[in-house]
Amino acid sequence: MKIAGLVNVDPDFWARRRVLVTGHTGFKGAWLSLWLQSLGAEVTGAAPGPPTRPSLYALARVGRHMRELAVDVRDAGAVRDALRQARPEVVLHLAAQPVVRRSLRDPAGTFEVNVMGTVNVLDAVRHAGEQVMAVVVVTSDKCYENPGERSRRFVEQDPLGGSDPYSSSKACAELVAAAYRRSFFSGERSPQVATARAGNVGGGDWGEDRLVPGAVRAVESGRSLKVRRPDAVRPWQHVLSPLAGYLRLAEALSRDADGAAARAWNFGPPPGDAQPVSWIVRRLGEMWGGALEWELDERPNPPEAGHLALDSSAAERLLGWRPALRLRDALQLVVEWHSAHRRGEDMRRVSLAQVAHMLRR
Ligand SMILES: NC(=O)c1ccc[n+]([C@@H]2O[C@H](COP(=O)([O-])OP(=O)(O)OC[C@H]3O[C@@H](n4cnc5c(N)ncnc54)[C@H](O)[C@@H]3O)[C@@H](O)[C@H]2O)c1
Repeated sequence: MKIAGLVNVDPDFWARRRVLVTGHTGFKGAWLSLWLQSLGAEVTGAAPGPPTRPSLYALARVGRHMRELAVDVRDAGAVRDALRQARPEVVLHLAAQPVVRRSLRDPAGTFEVNVMGTVNVLDAVRHAGEQVMAVVVVTSDKCYENPGERSRRFVEQDPLGGSDPYSSSKACAELVAAAYRRSFFSGERSPQVATARAGNVGGGDWGEDRLVPGAVRAVESGRSLKVRRPDAVRPWQHVLSPLAGYLRLAEALSRDADGAAARAWNFGPPPGDAQPVSWIVRRLGEMWGGALEWELDERPNPPEAGHLALDSSAAERLLGWRPALRLRDALQLVVEWHSAHRRGEDMRRVSLAQVAHMLRR
Protein backbone atom coordinates (compact mmCIF):
# COMPACT_ATOMS: atom_id res chain seq x y z
CA MET A 1 0.00 0.00 0.00
CA LYS A 2 1.42 3.38 -0.94
CA ILE A 3 -0.11 6.60 0.28
CA ALA A 4 0.08 8.97 -2.63
CA GLY A 5 1.16 12.55 -2.94
CA LEU A 6 2.86 13.21 0.39
CA VAL A 7 6.41 13.89 -0.62
CA ASN A 8 6.32 17.29 1.10
CA VAL A 9 4.18 19.01 3.69
CA ASP A 10 1.31 20.21 1.53
CA PRO A 11 0.58 23.93 2.11
CA ASP A 12 -2.80 23.62 0.34
CA PHE A 13 -3.91 21.02 2.85
CA TRP A 14 -3.02 23.24 5.82
CA ALA A 15 -4.28 26.62 4.57
CA ARG A 16 -7.33 27.59 6.68
CA ARG A 17 -7.38 24.07 8.19
CA ARG A 18 -8.84 24.04 11.72
CA VAL A 19 -6.21 22.42 13.94
CA LEU A 20 -6.17 21.82 17.69
CA VAL A 21 -2.69 21.50 19.23
CA THR A 22 -2.57 20.33 22.85
CA GLY A 23 0.60 21.41 24.63
CA HIS A 24 1.14 24.38 22.30
CA THR A 25 3.07 26.30 24.98
CA GLY A 26 5.76 23.60 25.18
CA PHE A 27 8.91 23.19 23.14
CA LYS A 28 7.52 20.98 20.37
CA GLY A 29 4.00 22.40 20.52
CA ALA A 30 5.31 25.95 20.05
CA TRP A 31 7.41 24.95 17.02
CA LEU A 32 4.44 23.09 15.57
CA SER A 33 2.04 25.99 16.17
CA LEU A 34 4.51 28.40 14.60
CA TRP A 35 4.82 26.15 11.55
CA LEU A 36 1.03 25.81 11.25
CA GLN A 37 0.66 29.59 11.55
CA SER A 38 3.14 30.03 8.71
CA LEU A 39 1.03 27.61 6.61
CA GLY A 40 -2.11 29.68 7.22
CA ALA A 41 -3.90 27.12 9.42
CA GLU A 42 -6.51 28.23 11.98
CA VAL A 43 -4.73 26.98 15.08
CA THR A 44 -6.22 26.62 18.55
CA GLY A 45 -3.90 25.72 21.40
CA ALA A 46 -4.97 23.85 24.54
CA ALA A 47 -2.55 24.03 27.48
CA PRO A 48 -1.68 25.97 30.58
CA GLY A 49 1.15 28.51 30.32
CA PRO A 50 4.64 27.60 29.10
CA PRO A 51 6.45 24.99 31.22
CA THR A 52 9.77 26.87 31.17
CA ARG A 53 11.04 30.40 31.37
CA PRO A 54 12.37 31.50 28.93
CA SER A 55 10.38 29.61 26.31
CA LEU A 56 10.12 29.46 22.55
CA TYR A 57 6.38 30.07 23.03
CA ALA A 58 6.97 33.49 24.64
CA LEU A 59 10.01 34.53 22.61
CA ALA A 60 8.36 33.75 19.26
CA ARG A 61 5.04 35.30 20.40
CA VAL A 62 3.28 32.07 19.42
CA GLY A 63 0.13 32.74 21.45
CA ARG A 64 -0.58 36.08 19.77
CA HIS A 65 -1.22 34.39 16.43
CA MET A 66 -3.69 31.72 17.47
CA ARG A 67 -6.69 31.08 19.69
CA GLU A 68 -5.69 29.80 23.12
CA LEU A 69 -7.65 27.78 25.66
CA ALA A 70 -6.20 27.23 29.15
CA VAL A 71 -7.05 23.53 29.30
CA ASP A 72 -5.77 20.88 31.68
CA VAL A 73 -6.01 17.57 29.81
CA ARG A 74 -6.78 15.79 33.09
CA ASP A 75 -10.15 17.58 33.05
CA ALA A 76 -12.34 15.58 30.65
CA GLY A 77 -15.07 18.25 30.54
CA ALA A 78 -12.59 21.00 29.73
CA VAL A 79 -11.07 18.94 26.91
CA ARG A 80 -14.52 18.24 25.45
CA ASP A 81 -15.34 21.91 25.67
CA ALA A 82 -12.08 22.78 23.88
CA LEU A 83 -13.07 20.55 20.97
CA ARG A 84 -16.52 22.15 20.87
CA GLN A 85 -14.95 25.60 20.67
CA ALA A 86 -12.14 24.77 18.24
CA ARG A 87 -14.19 22.45 15.95
CA PRO A 88 -10.91 20.92 14.75
CA GLU A 89 -10.49 18.89 11.60
CA VAL A 90 -7.06 17.81 12.84
CA VAL A 91 -6.01 17.17 16.46
CA LEU A 92 -2.31 17.03 17.33
CA HIS A 93 -1.94 15.81 20.92
CA LEU A 94 1.39 16.80 22.47
CA ALA A 95 0.42 17.84 26.01
CA ALA A 96 2.36 15.76 28.50
CA GLN A 97 4.60 15.58 31.52
CA PRO A 98 7.71 14.70 29.47
CA VAL A 99 10.58 14.58 32.00
CA VAL A 100 11.93 11.17 33.14
CA ARG A 101 13.37 12.40 36.47
CA ARG A 102 10.13 14.25 37.29
CA SER A 103 8.22 11.04 36.54
CA LEU A 104 10.31 9.31 39.23
CA ARG A 105 9.37 12.05 41.72
CA ASP A 106 5.69 12.07 40.68
CA PRO A 107 4.75 8.81 38.94
CA ALA A 108 1.00 9.10 39.62
CA GLY A 109 0.88 12.67 38.28
CA THR A 110 2.81 11.62 35.18
CA PHE A 111 0.46 8.73 34.43
CA GLU A 112 -2.51 10.99 35.05
CA VAL A 113 -1.42 13.60 32.49
CA ASN A 114 0.09 11.24 29.93
CA VAL A 115 -2.41 8.38 30.06
CA MET A 116 -5.71 9.88 31.26
CA GLY A 117 -4.93 13.04 29.31
CA THR A 118 -4.74 10.91 26.15
CA VAL A 119 -7.95 9.09 27.12
CA ASN A 120 -9.71 12.45 27.60
CA VAL A 121 -8.53 13.79 24.23
CA LEU A 122 -9.62 10.65 22.37
CA ASP A 123 -12.92 10.57 24.22
CA ALA A 124 -13.58 14.20 23.29
CA VAL A 125 -12.82 13.26 19.66
CA ARG A 126 -15.29 10.39 19.97
CA HIS A 127 -17.97 12.84 21.04
CA ALA A 128 -17.03 15.40 18.39
CA GLY A 129 -17.53 12.73 15.73
CA GLU A 130 -16.90 12.94 12.03
CA GLN A 131 -15.89 16.59 11.85
CA VAL A 132 -12.45 15.42 13.12
CA MET A 133 -10.57 13.76 10.27
CA ALA A 134 -7.21 13.02 11.86
CA VAL A 135 -5.66 12.65 15.31
CA VAL A 136 -1.92 12.33 15.89
CA VAL A 137 -1.00 11.22 19.42
CA VAL A 138 2.62 12.07 20.12
CA THR A 139 4.26 9.42 22.32
CA SER A 140 8.03 8.82 22.39
CA ASP A 141 11.01 6.85 21.15
CA LYS A 142 11.18 5.68 24.79
CA CYS A 143 7.92 3.67 24.55
CA TYR A 144 9.70 0.42 23.56
CA GLU A 145 10.64 -2.43 25.87
CA ASN A 146 14.41 -2.06 25.96
CA PRO A 147 15.85 -4.87 28.03
CA GLY A 148 19.56 -4.58 27.36
CA GLU A 149 22.34 -2.86 25.54
CA ARG A 150 21.04 -3.65 22.09
CA SER A 151 22.11 -2.07 18.86
CA ARG A 152 19.15 -3.01 16.66
CA ARG A 153 16.87 -0.19 15.60
CA PHE A 154 13.30 -0.51 16.91
CA VAL A 155 10.52 -1.11 14.41
CA GLU A 156 6.91 -0.24 15.20
CA GLN A 157 5.95 -3.88 15.83
CA ASP A 158 8.51 -4.27 18.66
CA PRO A 159 7.08 -4.81 22.16
CA LEU A 160 6.13 -1.74 24.17
CA GLY A 161 7.61 -1.26 27.64
CA GLY A 162 9.52 1.39 29.54
CA SER A 163 11.39 0.98 32.82
CA ASP A 164 10.60 4.42 34.26
CA PRO A 165 7.13 5.94 34.75
CA TYR A 166 7.50 8.45 31.88
CA SER A 167 8.50 5.82 29.30
CA SER A 168 5.84 3.44 30.58
CA SER A 169 3.18 6.20 30.44
CA LYS A 170 4.02 6.72 26.77
CA ALA A 171 3.72 2.97 26.10
CA CYS A 172 0.34 3.14 27.89
CA ALA A 173 -0.70 6.07 25.68
CA GLU A 174 0.11 3.86 22.68
CA LEU A 175 -2.20 1.14 24.03
CA VAL A 176 -4.94 3.68 24.75
CA ALA A 177 -4.75 4.99 21.18
CA ALA A 178 -4.86 1.43 19.79
CA ALA A 179 -7.95 0.56 21.88
CA TYR A 180 -9.81 3.73 20.85
CA ARG A 181 -8.87 3.15 17.22
CA ARG A 182 -10.20 -0.41 17.19
CA SER A 183 -13.27 0.23 19.35
CA PHE A 184 -14.52 3.59 18.14
CA PHE A 185 -12.68 4.81 15.06
CA SER A 186 -12.78 1.97 12.57
CA GLY A 187 -15.78 3.19 10.56
CA GLU A 188 -15.34 4.54 7.05
CA ARG A 189 -16.00 8.15 8.05
CA SER A 190 -14.53 7.94 11.57
CA PRO A 191 -11.66 10.12 12.72
CA GLN A 192 -8.37 8.36 11.91
CA VAL A 193 -5.99 7.96 14.84
CA ALA A 194 -2.23 7.40 14.65
CA THR A 195 0.65 7.59 17.11
CA ALA A 196 4.10 9.06 16.49
CA ARG A 197 7.33 7.98 18.18
CA ALA A 198 10.36 10.26 18.05
CA GLY A 199 12.97 12.05 20.10
CA ASN A 200 14.40 15.42 19.14
CA VAL A 201 16.60 18.45 19.76
CA GLY A 202 16.16 22.02 18.68
CA GLY A 203 16.59 25.66 19.48
CA GLY A 204 14.31 27.10 22.14
CA ASP A 205 14.19 24.08 24.47
CA TRP A 206 14.86 24.92 28.11
CA GLY A 207 13.40 21.63 29.38
CA GLU A 208 14.82 20.18 32.57
CA ASP A 209 17.22 17.23 32.49
CA ARG A 210 17.80 17.22 28.72
CA LEU A 211 21.22 17.22 27.09
CA VAL A 212 21.02 20.10 24.61
CA PRO A 213 19.10 22.49 26.92
CA GLY A 214 21.67 21.61 29.61
CA ALA A 215 24.49 22.43 27.19
CA VAL A 216 22.86 25.77 26.33
CA ARG A 217 22.53 26.63 30.04
CA ALA A 218 26.16 25.60 30.67
CA VAL A 219 27.47 27.83 27.86
CA GLU A 220 25.31 30.76 28.95
CA SER A 221 26.25 30.49 32.64
CA GLY A 222 29.92 29.55 32.10
CA ARG A 223 29.37 26.43 34.26
CA SER A 224 30.31 22.89 33.39
CA LEU A 225 27.67 20.58 31.82
CA LYS A 226 26.84 17.53 33.94
CA VAL A 227 26.55 14.48 31.67
CA ARG A 228 24.69 11.35 32.83
CA ARG A 229 25.86 8.72 30.36
CA PRO A 230 28.45 9.83 27.79
CA ASP A 231 28.19 6.43 26.07
CA ALA A 232 24.37 6.41 25.69
CA VAL A 233 23.24 6.41 22.07
CA ARG A 234 20.05 8.30 21.16
CA PRO A 235 18.17 8.97 17.90
CA TRP A 236 19.06 12.69 17.84
CA GLN A 237 17.37 14.81 15.21
CA HIS A 238 16.20 18.37 14.71
CA VAL A 239 12.70 18.94 16.13
CA LEU A 240 11.37 20.13 12.76
CA SER A 241 12.13 16.73 11.23
CA PRO A 242 9.61 14.70 13.31
CA LEU A 243 7.20 17.66 13.23
CA ALA A 244 7.20 17.39 9.44
CA GLY A 245 6.37 13.72 10.01
CA TYR A 246 3.39 14.61 12.22
CA LEU A 247 2.08 17.02 9.57
CA ARG A 248 2.48 14.51 6.77
CA LEU A 249 0.89 11.84 8.90
CA ALA A 250 -2.14 14.07 9.56
CA GLU A 251 -2.42 14.69 5.81
CA ALA A 252 -2.30 10.94 5.13
CA LEU A 253 -4.89 10.18 7.83
CA SER A 254 -7.23 12.80 6.38
CA ARG A 255 -6.94 11.63 2.79
CA ASP A 256 -6.48 7.96 3.19
CA ALA A 257 -9.77 6.12 2.69
CA ASP A 258 -8.53 2.64 3.63
CA GLY A 259 -7.27 3.55 7.13
CA ALA A 260 -3.73 2.38 6.36
CA ALA A 261 -2.11 5.38 8.05
CA ALA A 262 -4.04 4.77 11.30
CA ARG A 263 -1.26 2.96 13.16
CA ALA A 264 1.99 3.68 15.00
CA TRP A 265 4.89 5.40 13.19
CA ASN A 266 8.56 5.95 14.01
CA PHE A 267 10.13 9.21 12.90
CA GLY A 268 13.85 8.92 13.56
CA PRO A 269 17.12 10.14 12.05
CA PRO A 270 19.11 8.27 9.41
CA PRO A 271 21.08 5.33 10.93
CA GLY A 272 24.43 7.17 11.08
CA ASP A 273 22.93 9.92 13.23
CA ALA A 274 22.25 7.73 16.27
CA GLN A 275 25.34 8.99 18.12
CA PRO A 276 26.57 8.74 21.71
CA VAL A 277 26.03 11.65 24.08
CA SER A 278 29.82 12.33 24.12
CA TRP A 279 29.76 12.95 20.32
CA ILE A 280 26.98 15.54 20.69
CA VAL A 281 28.80 17.27 23.55
CA ARG A 282 32.06 17.38 21.54
CA ARG A 283 30.32 18.77 18.42
CA LEU A 284 28.41 21.40 20.39
CA GLY A 285 31.67 22.37 22.13
CA GLU A 286 33.39 22.84 18.75
CA MET A 287 30.47 24.87 17.40
CA TRP A 288 30.51 27.11 20.47
CA GLY A 289 34.24 27.71 20.02
CA GLY A 290 35.38 25.65 23.02
CA ALA A 291 32.98 27.32 25.46
CA LEU A 292 31.36 24.05 26.60
CA GLU A 293 33.01 22.17 29.48
CA TRP A 294 31.54 18.95 30.82
CA GLU A 295 31.87 16.48 33.69
CA LEU A 296 30.19 13.23 34.75
CA ASP A 297 26.92 13.61 36.66
CA GLU A 298 27.52 11.59 39.84
CA ARG A 299 23.87 11.68 41.01
CA PRO A 300 21.99 8.34 40.93
CA ASN A 301 20.70 7.97 37.39
CA PRO A 302 17.22 6.91 36.37
CA PRO A 303 17.14 3.50 34.67
CA GLU A 304 17.55 4.15 30.96
CA ALA A 305 18.56 2.36 27.81
CA GLY A 306 22.19 2.45 26.71
CA HIS A 307 21.22 2.30 23.06
CA LEU A 308 18.06 3.70 21.55
CA ALA A 309 17.56 3.88 17.80
CA LEU A 310 14.52 3.89 15.54
CA ASP A 311 13.84 2.33 12.18
CA SER A 312 11.71 4.83 10.25
CA SER A 313 11.63 2.98 6.97
CA ALA A 314 7.83 2.56 7.15
CA ALA A 315 7.31 6.35 7.30
CA GLU A 316 9.82 6.81 4.47
CA ARG A 317 8.22 4.16 2.29
CA LEU A 318 4.55 4.76 2.98
CA LEU A 319 4.25 8.42 3.98
CA GLY A 320 7.02 9.74 1.72
CA TRP A 321 8.60 11.34 4.81
CA ARG A 322 12.40 11.77 5.00
CA PRO A 323 14.60 12.87 7.89
CA ALA A 324 14.94 16.56 7.06
CA LEU A 325 18.47 17.28 8.24
CA ARG A 326 21.68 15.43 9.04
CA LEU A 327 22.75 15.69 12.66
CA ARG A 328 25.62 18.15 12.05
CA ASP A 329 23.24 20.56 10.31
CA ALA A 330 20.63 20.05 13.02
CA LEU A 331 23.13 20.99 15.74
CA GLN A 332 24.24 23.96 13.64
CA LEU A 333 20.62 25.22 13.58
CA VAL A 334 20.39 24.80 17.36
CA VAL A 335 23.59 26.77 17.91
CA GLU A 336 22.49 29.48 15.46
CA TRP A 337 19.11 29.76 17.19
CA HIS A 338 20.65 30.24 20.64
CA SER A 339 23.37 32.57 19.33
CA ALA A 340 20.62 34.75 17.80
CA HIS A 341 18.78 34.68 21.13
CA ARG A 342 21.92 35.81 22.95
CA ARG A 343 22.34 38.68 20.47
CA GLY A 344 18.79 39.79 21.33
CA GLU A 345 17.34 39.12 17.86
CA ASP A 346 13.61 38.83 17.13
CA MET A 347 13.11 35.12 17.81
CA ARG A 348 9.80 34.90 15.97
CA ARG A 349 11.61 36.01 12.84
CA VAL A 350 14.58 33.67 13.48
CA SER A 351 12.32 30.68 14.21
CA LEU A 352 10.11 31.26 11.16
CA ALA A 353 13.28 31.52 9.04
CA GLN A 354 14.36 28.08 10.35
CA VAL A 355 10.95 26.65 9.42
CA ALA A 356 11.20 28.20 5.94
CA HIS A 357 14.72 26.76 5.60
CA MET A 358 13.27 23.28 6.16
CA LEU A 359 10.50 23.81 3.62
CA ARG A 360 13.01 24.71 0.92
CA ARG A 361 14.82 21.37 1.24
N1 LIG B 1 11.34 16.96 23.55
C1 LIG B 1 11.67 15.69 23.40
O1 LIG B 1 12.85 15.34 23.32
C2 LIG B 1 10.61 14.62 23.28
C3 LIG B 1 11.01 13.33 22.94
C4 LIG B 1 10.05 12.35 22.77
C5 LIG B 1 8.71 12.66 22.95
N2 LIG B 1 8.34 13.92 23.31
C6 LIG B 1 6.91 14.18 23.50
O2 LIG B 1 6.54 15.34 22.76
C7 LIG B 1 5.51 16.04 23.46
C8 LIG B 1 5.92 17.48 23.70
O3 LIG B 1 7.11 17.48 24.48
P1 LIG B 1 7.92 18.82 24.76
O4 LIG B 1 9.35 18.48 24.72
O5 LIG B 1 7.41 19.91 23.91
O6 LIG B 1 7.50 19.07 26.30
P2 LIG B 1 7.25 20.45 27.06
O7 LIG B 1 7.35 20.16 28.51
O8 LIG B 1 8.09 21.53 26.49
O9 LIG B 1 5.72 20.79 26.69
C9 LIG B 1 4.65 20.07 27.26
C10 LIG B 1 3.36 20.79 26.97
O10 LIG B 1 2.31 20.08 27.62
C11 LIG B 1 1.59 21.00 28.44
N3 LIG B 1 1.03 20.31 29.59
C12 LIG B 1 1.66 19.74 30.64
N4 LIG B 1 0.76 19.26 31.50
C13 LIG B 1 -0.46 19.52 30.98
C14 LIG B 1 -1.79 19.27 31.39
N5 LIG B 1 -2.06 18.64 32.54
N6 LIG B 1 -2.80 19.69 30.59
C15 LIG B 1 -2.56 20.33 29.42
N7 LIG B 1 -1.32 20.59 28.98
C16 LIG B 1 -0.29 20.19 29.76
C17 LIG B 1 2.62 22.05 28.84
O11 LIG B 1 1.97 23.24 29.30
C18 LIG B 1 3.32 22.21 27.51
O12 LIG B 1 2.53 23.03 26.67
C19 LIG B 1 5.25 15.26 24.74
O13 LIG B 1 4.15 14.41 24.52
C20 LIG B 1 6.52 14.48 24.94
O14 LIG B 1 6.31 13.32 25.70
C21 LIG B 1 9.26 14.91 23.49
